[in-house]
Amino acid sequence: MEITTELRAKTASLRKQLDDWAHAYHVLDAPNVPDAEYDRVYRELEAIERDNPALVDPQSPTQRVGGQALDAFEPARHQQPMLSLNNAFEATDVEAFDRRAREGLSVGEALLEYATELKFDGLAVSLIYRNGLLDRAATRGDGTTGENVTQNIRTIKNVPLRLRQPEDGTALPVLLEVRGEVLMLAADFKSLNERQRLAEQKEFANPRNAAAGSLRQLDPAITAQRPLHFFSYALGEVQTAPSDETTHEHLDRHSDTLDWMRSLGLPVGDFRRVVQGTVGLLAFYEEVGKARDSLPFDIDGVVYKLNDRSMQEQLGFVSKAPRFAIAHKFPAQEMLTTLLDIEVQVGRTGSLTPVARLEPVFVGGVTVTNATLHNEDEIARKGLMIGDIVVVRRAGDVIPEVMRSVPEQRPATARVFEMPTRCPICQSPVVRDEDEAVARCTGGWVCAAQRKQAIEHFASRRAMEIEGLGEKLVDQLVQANLLSNFSDIYSNLNLENLKNLDRFGEKSATNLLAGIQTSKSRGPARLLFGLGIRHVGEEVARLLIEHFGSLDAVAATSADQWNTLLEQKAQIQKDNQRRRTKGEPLELVPLEGIGERIIQSLRDALTITNAVTNAITNAVTNPVTNPVTYAPLQTEIQRLKAAGLVTDLPAASTIEGQSNAPQTLQGMTIVVTGTLPNYGRDALHDLIRAHGGKVGSSVSSKTSLLVAGSDAGSKLAKAQELNIVVLDEASFLKKFALKPD
Ligand code: IVH
Repeated sequence: MEITTELRAKTASLRKQLDDWAHAYHVLDAPNVPDAEYDRVYRELEAIERDNPALVDPQSPTQRVGGQALDAFEPARHQQPMLSLNNAFEATDVEAFDRRAREGLSVGEALLEYATELKFDGLAVSLIYRNGLLDRAATRGDGTTGENVTQNIRTIKNVPLRLRQPEDGTALPVLLEVRGEVLMLAADFKSLNERQRLAEQKEFANPRNAAAGSLRQLDPAITAQRPLHFFSYALGEVQTAPSDETTHEHLDRHSDTLDWMRSLGLPVGDFRRVVQGTVGLLAFYEEVGKARDSLPFDIDGVVYKLNDRSMQEQLGFVSKAPRFAIAHKFPAQEMLTTLLDIEVQVGRTGSLTPVARLEPVFVGGVTVTNATLHNEDEIARKGLMIGDIVVVRRAGDVIPEVMRSVPEQRPATARVFEMPTRCPICQSPVVRDEDEAVARCTGGWVCAAQRKQAIEHFASRRAMEIEGLGEKLVDQLVQANLLSNFSDIYSNLNLENLKNLDRFGEKSATNLLAGIQTSKSRGPARLLFGLGIRHVGEEVARLLIEHFGSLDAVAATSADQWNTLLEQKAQIQKDNQRRRTKGEPLELVPLEGIGERIIQSLRDALTITNAVTNAITNAVTNPVTNPVTYAPLQTEIQRLKAAGLVTDLPAASTIEGQSNAPQTLQGMTIVVTGTLPNYGRDALHDLIRAHGGKVGSSVSSKTSLLVAGSDAGSKLAKAQELNIVVLDEASFLKKFALKPD
């Protein structure tokens, strides 16, 4: 087919359009076209190029992925060596750097101007543009010779294949070498690893390794599937045409150079400043330090560069690094250390959690000595053996984590971790259900660890809220044999025996006893929650009490009665389905959200005298540890009641949770999701209840409204799908004029 002038012009205009959109999207971070429209034009261009092979141009946006898989990368020599930076770790290192610069320039005490930038944690690359077209891309290699990775770099969407004409009218240099960093965004890294896991392929250790592995693929089609990003941070070689008489003033200051590079369509990071003297440098370091965890990619520090080019040249280089620039590093987020041992901790419900004991290591700004390993499967997945050298990571406020071992450095003495078959605290047998990741101690209340934590939970803020009865004191009281059951809190403690405790004065004792007294009126829902029955959380406890009216009624419900209730529920749910299709009003489902699993757990706790059974087993295997006897839960409830605890719901008008607040949310079921700016989730739940609303745990057609905070996920999507009103915290509080008591 003959190629007409019109077709040529059309092709050029489609390419220009696609380049502009891609530039807005990838470089300016300001998308200005719907994806579908971009795709439509892209396909139109593809079709033209398919029908007219003579029109194909390597700079066309359709030609990012092309070429064959290579056998090996070609060596690529750098005209100007790719150097590295010296590092500063402390403020004094930065001050010394500035002093040396001032001395070298003989400027006395004058404040020097610096350009400050992020130190991207990726791989350095050099891109050569000839007459504005991407000609060659190379890795740093040994600084003199790298590898030619042009095919792969072309697949990176924010690397322009063609530079834009500078807006200030300056001519594009005939040769422009751009230096920068290739990296992978944290979110892309996460999803790449998820894909690798699903495909049973090796996962990458961190975004940097993932970027390196992706860039060093011999087949560009694979690199194209890896979402890489590029950020430019400097120029290398620049050659202007002899005929070019423009002044190129933008090359006089580094910060201007970066602005100019951005105007050519090159991606340049926004997070940079021009500052004066060390005070300015250190302020930038601090600013970035605070923002570090919310950046979309990893950085390992910041970079300071003397801004004035002639000053840069005057200072020059020492061995392999410039004197005019320095990297100020942040504390490393990953460090190597030795996994000294794996100990097992027993939780409130008997869960056994392996915990890594580590050779103390300074990572992410703190000294880390232990880290949870969650469960056996996790240890296997990470390939950890006791004695291994391991990578420990601590990023921001995130709790420290053992990432993996370094098997190449495994000592001969390393040994495999095995979950104990007996509880390390009470020696009761350990079981692990087939469908569970967690192993559990079967000791129940016989196990001092479980007992202590159960009592702690009972006394905790959201349960009985006993002021002063925290972890340490519970430990002491259990040790002193003053507490072996919940009810002992109310019957065993007095001024006499409390005062005899180590470091426990009369005042603390009086306060504690007052706190215990006050806690008696917390009401049956908080009491039921406080009993710590598996699967009976706050909301479930509240629902049960509201349904049955008292703790005794919940406890007295027989197996037959539970079954009848479940059958009734199922029937109503079935009828409701029919009603829904007919548009008839629905009937209220009793105990919505409470199913067999919860009921089973409740019944086990109340009927089977678990503790007693285990006490017997334990007494046989380990006769000395437990001289005390433990009451079954039913007995406990009776004792608590006898001690004067409120176990019935008060009359409707003063129902617990209701307050004097106006009942503005009466009849509404409200779900809260995501992180809220002001209220904690629990606090907002309380506020909703105090105003007569119900709190829902999942979004359904019965949800009246969803309060969504940041990072709201599936619940938000569900609410949108069901056309349910969604409000943020502020609009919710405003709309219903809600105020805390
Ligand atoms: S300027 C003359 N600026 O850090 C040296 N480098 O340790 C020019 N890096 O190899 C480097 N972010 O890979 C510069 N904003 C930035 C940087 C940066 C990351 C890397 C680069 C370099 C290494 C030096």
